[in-house]
Amino acid sequence: MSFVLMFLAAAPQASAAVPGAAGGILQIPSNDSLAHCIPRCGDVDIPYPFGIGPGCFRQGFDLTCNHSTKHPRLFLGSSTIQVTDIGVYSGVVLTPIIYNLTTMSGTNTYDIIWQAPAKGITLTSDNTLYVAGCDLDVTLFKYGTRNMVGSCMTRCAGRKAPTGGPCYGKGCCLIPFASDLPGFHANLVSTNTTATQSDWLHPGIMALVSSNPYSYRDNTTDLFSSWTNPSTIDDASLRVAIMDQPSCVSAQLKNKSYACSNGSSCRDSSYGGYQCDCSSYSGRNPYILDGCDYNSKPKEHCPASCGRITIPFPFGLEEGCYANKKFHLNCTSGNLTVYFSENVQYHVTNVSVEDGTLTVSNKWICT
Ligand SMILES: *[C@@H]1O[C@H](CO)[C@@H](O)[C@H](O)[C@H]1NC(C)=O
Ligand SMILES: *[C@@H]1O[C@H](CO)[C@@H](O)[C@H](O)[C@H]1NC(C)=O
Ligand SMILES: *[C@@H]1O[C@H](CO)[C@@H](O)[C@H](O)[C@H]1NC(C)=O
Ligand SMILES: *[C@@H]1O[C@H](CO)[C@@H](O)[C@H](O)[C@H]1NC(C)=O
Ligand SMILES: *[C@@H]1O[C@H](CO)[C@@H](O)[C@H](O)[C@H]1NC(C)=O
Ligand SMILES: *[C@@H]1O[C@H](CO)[C@@H](O)[C@H](O)[C@H]1NC(C)=O
Ligand SMILES: *[C@@H]1O[C@H](CO)[C@@H](O)[C@H](O)[C@H]1NC(C)=O
Ligand SMILES: *[C@@H]1O[C@H](CO)[C@@H](O)[C@H](O)[C@H]1NC(C)=O
Ligand SMILES: *[C@@H]1O[C@H](CO)[C@@H](O)[C@H](O)[C@H]1NC(C)=O
Ligand SMILES: *[C@@H]1O[C@H](CO)[C@@H](O)[C@H](O)[C@H]1NC(C)=O
Repeated sequence: MSFVLMFLAAAPQASAAVPGAAGGILQIPSNDSLAHCIPRCGDVDIPYPFGIGPGCFRQGFDLTCNHSTKHPRLFLGSSTIQVTDIGVYSGVVLTPIIYNLTTMSGTNTYDIIWQAPAKGITLTSDNTLYVAGCDLDVTLFKYGTRNMVGSCMTRCAGRKAPTGGPCYGKGCCLIPFASDLPGFHANLVSTNTTATQSDWLHPGIMALVSSNPYSYRDNTTDLFSSWTNPSTIDDASLRVAIMDQPSCVSAQLKNKSYACSNGSSCRDSSYGGYQCDCSSYSGRNPYILDGCDYNSKPKEHCPASCGRITIPFPFGLEEGCYANKKFHLNCTSGNLTVYFSENVQYHVTNVSVEDGTLTVSNKWICT
């Protein structure tokens, strides 16, 4: 008897979400098991693997919602890295990175450092550093190294910084990241401290990181107006990798904790860990059970009936009309059928979404 109990106690919890070391989920949850989770903070939607509270986030993807300001603000873990958008389908999170440096007489060197709050969080390669201010030499390094990412310079030639125009050196310059970075260090040297400080309109230095490649390169109007109103700035993009395994290959070997649901593919991240992708997108979530295999909106002009039976979504007859293949019905000469398994087919006599029932009559065995 005691042997049986011991055996039961040692049996794995087959499908329940198991809390990880830091209170995070380490298995693929079903959509229903996340129903109790806070869906948004302010105006930011929170899709899994991100989440707030036990049972709501994958290990390493916990967020904090701070309600103490008028508009609640969302942060990565307990860090000061703010989150303004989560694209679980693009695998990218947006965060504002903007610095308003006050210049001081006697100082001609300024350093800006941004460091990821945890391993697995990287700034993506499509980010660009923009620096606005007069007479600056800017060098960008990968954080913690002397590896130079790029350099640029601004000159104002004895005039005020412009308020618009392109960001090609006149009061503004830019450095594209070109590769993912776990953090950066920007070194800014003023070549004429009078010019850097004296501009009444822009008294100091503005530096920001944005992932929109076209935002300020050819038109710096919004960049210069951010000096007083930063709300016009497009944010920087971050990637958050799953770090409980170092790569797709090792995660797939240890597949109890593998995060990518059936039908999704795995991608190694540049600084360790991995991310999941649904091969087809349109509002799907590769981190949820059947998340890639769920179409939440039918295409247009779906046949609405078969004979006298109406067919409500999520059921459907054609590809794009049903939510997933479990809801695929077949209409042949006015007879509605459903495949139950490979060679078992039922004749459907009524479909009711409200009741959640499919009324079937005789079983057909296909040959
Ligand atoms: C997942 O659950 C939420 C509510 O928790 C619901 O609004 C949403 O439609 C569900 N998605 C799918 C694909 O079932
Ligand atoms: C929320 O934000 C306020 C103001 O920025 C800060 O004082 C407070 O410590 C934050 N609370 C938490 C839980 O981080
Ligand atoms: C430095 O900037 C000031 C103000 O723009 C300008 O008058 C001066 O000529 C500049 N000096 C040099 C050496 O370029
Ligand atoms: C530059 O951007 C501003 C604000 O987005 C816009 O009003 C202006 O027309 C743009 N200028 C050009 C030359 O495109
Ligand atoms: C930047 O600093 C200047 C001078 O200290 C100030 O006038 C301006 O409002 C600041 N801008 C932002 C966006 O904080
Ligand atoms: C997990 O791995 C085992 C052995 O490699 C394999 O047989 C099984 O199909 C895998 N399960 C999933 C869900 O990938
Ligand atoms: C995963 O998807 C494939 C192809 O759609 C299907 O054959 C297989 O049964 C699915 N496996 C699970 C565990 O759902
Ligand atoms: C629909 O019915 C036809 C004819 O019985 C059959 O050939 C086909 O495989 C069925 N398809 C599905 C998805 O049930
Ligand atoms: C449709 O169903 C009716 C009644 O069950 C049957 O008589 C008829 O042969 C079926 N038609 C086809 C094409 O299966
Ligand atoms: C189908 O089901 C609905 C809802 O339960 C019911 O109102 C309707 O009468 C049923 N139709 C048939 C033909 O059984």
